[in-house]
Parts: sequence; structure tokens; C-alpha cells
Amino acid sequence: MFPPDFQWGVATSAYQIEGATTEDGRGPSTWDTFCREPGRVRDGHTADVACDHYHRWAEDLDLIAGLGAQAYRFSIAWPRVQPTGSGSANPKGLDFYDRLVDGLAARGVAAVPTLYHWDLPQPLEDEGGWMNRDTAHRFAEYAALVAERLADRVDLWITLNEPMVVMSYGYAFGLYAPGRTLMLDALPTAHHQLLAHGLAATALRAEGAARIGVANHYTPAWPAGDGPEDVTAAVAFDALLNWQFTDPILLGRYPGLGLDLAHVRDGDLEVIAAPIDALGVNYYNPTGVAAPDDDGLPFAIRDLKGFPTTGMGWPVVPDGLHRLLVDLRERYGAALPPVYITESGCSYDESLDDTARIGFLNAHIGAVRAAMNDGIDVRGYYVWSLLDNFEWAEGYHPRFGLVHVDYATQKRTPRASYAWYRDLIAACS
Ligand code: FCB
Repeated sequence: MFPPDFQWGVATSAYQIEGATTEDGRGPSTWDTFCREPGRVRDGHTADVACDHYHRWAEDLDLIAGLGAQAYRFSIAWPRVQPTGSGSANPKGLDFYDRLVDGLAARGVAAVPTLYHWDLPQPLEDEGGWMNRDTAHRFAEYAALVAERLADRVDLWITLNEPMVVMSYGYAFGLYAPGRTLMLDALPTAHHQLLAHGLAATALRAEGAARIGVANHYTPAWPAGDGPEDVTAAVAFDALLNWQFTDPILLGRYPGLGLDLAHVRDGDLEVIAAPIDALGVNYYNPTGVAAPDDDGLPFAIRDLKGFPTTGMGWPVVPDGLHRLLVDLRERYGAALPPVYITESGCSYDESLDDTARIGFLNAHIGAVRAAMNDGIDVRGYYVWSLLDNFEWAEGYHPRFGLVHVDYATQKRTPRASYAWYRDLIAACS
């Protein structure tokens, strides 16, 4: 079915599971600030406790080992390592991830840390955050501090998680931290994150990092209708939200955005295009796109009709993943490195007997297999997520876990999908 060295894994992120937001010298992040602003997060939920993973990490690693998973993608909280976003490392922050990585090694699970999964140190945001080019340099310094400590035990480094979402939800639409509503003026945040990726890739190599990648969110634009305006809008959407975050890295140039790129300096694209070893693909669903409204964006977003939906209301479109992988190969050819599906999963209700999730995962894994049959080099698949967790602006309402979390007691209970995934891994390994 799958090659025996195919890497089955699970994914989480620091802010969504760790809690302990003021412990051991951790500084505040933009998400801590955002959660405290009225109306930002559903029902005023905060991630102060989340899944209490900071204290229960050993139990959680046992759950990963119990799956027989070969890889664990987690993220490192920048404000734990550098509480103010710059300067020397907070040893206790690094100690936590050191224990985690050792715990993975002891269980025979490869460590796949993401260096930035949206929890920017607040003091950097106070200086402009990703609108400020300096943040890219701060990120490279932080990456070096982490790699100095962990590089000998990390299988694959992921620099950034979904810079597209940071740009759009965080800085353009204000739905995620830091909650800014700059619309198209948020464009420099894309470039500064890409620059951060490139500078960090070089810094990681200098510290002995073995393999480096980035995890991009791809939501392919599907024209809502057959008319030429919808098709043109879909091309614009793809350029701005999908290809903008991959072309500079793999091709050393921006796609045609039709926007002012005055913030791009000579030499930046060479830095951004530093060779990488893996492309991380986070895929949830395509987006229906139609001709623009009058909000200044070159497209309008429409619900895709005719598909079942998850608890988030997202359409279930496994074939979209197959098509995306084919599109990536067609667009990048030999420049496409091995692909890892760094996130794939769904939220449903609380139930333990989650047959809908099993169906979802089975269909998406089938789509990956179909792409591999087409000759695309996919090396791994990581389920989002191991645990129910803090789902950003939706708080604790969505339930994405293979393992149910009772937030009142912190009791973890594996769902039917956990046993199903464990059996699949065993059958494939
Ligand atoms: C992705 C995020 C991840 C999680 C899933 C549902 O966009 O990377 O943290 O919230 O969506």
C-alpha cells in the first residue's frame, strides 16, 4: 500500500495545547493579548491552561507511541525561548523542548518541530510584528538558539506554519492575532515571513540542522461559476494566497500579484530561495471564489456547494488534495522537494465513536496514495490533531483530536479514530 519508510505522524502546536503561559519565564505572545480582547475568541476562551501539555507531555508522548506513529510535529513557543523576542535564551524554556525531544527519541518517534506556529512575542508586535522587516532577523536569531540546543536530535525542521494565514487572518482581516485589518496593505507581512524563513534556513544549517522545510496552507481556488470573471478571480486568489508563499521559496520569484512590492529589497529573493529538503502541505479544503465585491480585494469568497461539511462547516473534498499535489508537481517540476502532508484532519462533535473522522482520514489518505501513484514524491502524512485543543478564535468548541480531552479534568480518552489510525500504521509499517 504505502512504502514502509512512509512517515505516519500526528501534529499539534504549542499555543493550542501547552497552557502554562506564565510559567518558567515564558513571555507574553500576541495570542495571549488577543484572547484578552473582548469579542475576539468565542465565549472568551483563553489558552492559559489548554491541554496542560506543559505538565502532561509524557502522557501525551505515550499516546503518540501508542499509535505506533513515526513522527511528531509539534511547535516551539518563541516566547518561552526568548520571552521578549530577542536576546539570550531562557534556559528553562529550552529545557522543556529538550525533555520533549529526548522523550520522543526514547519512544522511537522522529521530532519535527515548527519554529513559529503563530505565537509571536508581544514585544515584537509592539514594534510592528511581521509588518516590520526586523522581525525576520529576530526570527533567525531565535532559530539559531533553538538549533544550537536541539539540532542533533531533530529529524525535520519546519520554519513557519502557514504564513498565508498570519498575513490574511492576522493582519488583513483581523480574525486572528494580532487582529489588524490592513487588507491588501498587509502584503509586507508575507515577504517578511518568507525572509524570516530564508534567514532561518541558513541559520539552522549553520547550527547543523539536518533537514529543513516550511508548512504552507493550501486552499486551492475553485471558481464558483464558469464565467470568465470567476476564473480570473480564482487566478488572483491562488497567486495571493497559495503561490505567493511557495514561488519565492522554490522558484526565487513572486507570482504576478499586480501589487506594489516596494518592500522587497535586492538580494531578498536569493535568501528566501535557500534550498529546502521538504515542502509541508497543510490541506483542509478548497475555497469557492467568485468575481470581486467592492471591498478592494480581487476576488470574493463563496461557499462550495454540494459537499458534506465538518464541524467547522468546511467542505470535505479529498480529491482537492490529490489535485493540489498534482498542481504542485506541474507548477514546480524538479524544483518541488519531497512533500509531507504536515496537517490533515477535521473537527466533529465530542463523540468517542467518530466514524465521520475515520471516513475523512481514510479518504484523504486515499487521495495521497492516488497522488503517489501519479509519481508525486510524498513522504509523510501527519494528522491534525493528536488532541482536542484550543482552536484559535473558535476556542475549545471544535474538536479535532484523535484523542478526546475533557477540559475539566484533563483526562485524555482515545477515540475510535485513534484505534483506526494505529491499525492503519501497523498495517503499513
Ligand atoms: C490550521 C492550523 C492549525 C489548526 C488547524 C485546524 O490552519 O495550522 O493550528 O488550527 O488549522
